[in-house]
Amino acid sequence: MTPIPSTDLRLDDIQLGSAELWARPDREGIFAKLRAERPVSFHEEPEFIGFPKGPGFWSVVRHDDVMRVSRDSETFISGRGSNIGDLPVELLEFFGSMINMDAPRHTKLRKLVNRGFTPRMVAELEAAVRQQARHIVQTVAPKGRCDFVEEIAAALPLKIICDMMGIPESDTRRMFELSNIILGVGDPEYGSTMETLMSAAVELSQYAQALGEERARTPGDDITSVLMQADVDGDRLTAAEFASFFILLVVAGNETTRNAISHGMKALTDFPEQRRAWMSDFDRLAPTAVEEIVRWATPVIHFRRTATRDVEIAGQRIPAGDKIVMWYNSANRDERAFDDPFRFDVRREPNEHVGFGGGGAHFCLGANLARREIKVMFEELFRTLPDIHVVGEPDRLFSAFIHGIKRMRVEWPPPRG
Ligand code: HEM
Repeated sequence: MTPIPSTDLRLDDIQLGSAELWARPDREGIFAKLRAERPVSFHEEPEFIGFPKGPGFWSVVRHDDVMRVSRDSETFISGRGSNIGDLPVELLEFFGSMINMDAPRHTKLRKLVNRGFTPRMVAELEAAVRQQARHIVQTVAPKGRCDFVEEIAAALPLKIICDMMGIPESDTRRMFELSNIILGVGDPEYGSTMETLMSAAVELSQYAQALGEERARTPGDDITSVLMQADVDGDRLTAAEFASFFILLVVAGNETTRNAISHGMKALTDFPEQRRAWMSDFDRLAPTAVEEIVRWATPVIHFRRTATRDVEIAGQRIPAGDKIVMWYNSANRDERAFDDPFRFDVRREPNEHVGFGGGGAHFCLGANLARREIKVMFEELFRTLPDIHVVGEPDRLFSAFIHGIKRMRVEWPPPRG
């Protein structure tokens, strides 16, 4: 059994809201300690750029508590925000679309946008995913080394979302930059201030509104056209609703999948016997290997809910109106839910990870698309660059929300001839 990490921080000194905690090397030990000794804990809120400090938040760190909060969307609502800090209500919807909504609005919007994510729509994307993954791998192959994040991992999800939505090639680079600004909040490298954040969101939104209006007038065969034509109980998406959903897709579909692929590459370098196992029986192991990559990576570290009534979790009373944060990273390493959780195991089964959420109304809309992208990317990598491996330590994103890798050097012997 792989040892469970530890920390020498005292329980009362663990402050999940403090930025310093996220820079510590013993993060896994800190969460292991909370799971063992204080499964529900209260924390002060960090300062969120440009906004007054909020009242603090409860944290659930065990797998079964995360599942419970996630699945009871009457008691634990999303409409007051799904991140720790409080955004003004107008911004909540602007930035978060359906992720910051509750029934009945959420149900209606989800029904509408589901049209773009049916298994058939996703299966139709398979050819595009494969073609793009192959193109990415073949482009870098002669170089013998590259930055894995920018040249391999990030290039795939971004291109697929842009293709799905009908965005031309010439605009994809700008989409990449804007999504970095929005999700890089808090990391000094991206220097996001409230102004840069808002101007990035406004630029994305204006772009999307124009795109939505254009496809409403002259539909094509992209998902933007499907969404702009879709009708649920007489309701259609307005261009503004579409723009918010578009911002959500660009940020939700991009960084998450990119980080899953990057962490997957790192894990397959660190655990060569797991890589050999998967490479020798790719198709059979792909379903469990992909789930294990998502568990291992946990690209989204947390989401928040708000209690609508007084409620008790693991013996702790939580008053109505308080914030509750579900720590997916911790649930995905919970010794109670996973056998040997600190072992990366491409054959892991069962694997009820919460990387795409703990189930319930907001479960990741793009999960099937993401699974397909991860699988196809590794299939193409193994085929063309079977010796690709990470060199040195990755440069990690400084964030309590996105488990991100900013840069990661990889090398392989370039093909001969
Ligand atoms: C490995 C990649 C991904 C991970 C780890 C991930 C993770 C998540 C998580 C944790 C949630 C919240 C679930 C909840 O609150 O119960 C979520 C929601 C969502 N994700 Fe993903 N996601 C990924 C890829 C994608 C992709 C590719 C898309 C779309 C192209 C996407 C679109 C969405 C949307 C629209 C929601 C909001 C659903 C709702 O509120 O009803 N995600 N995702």
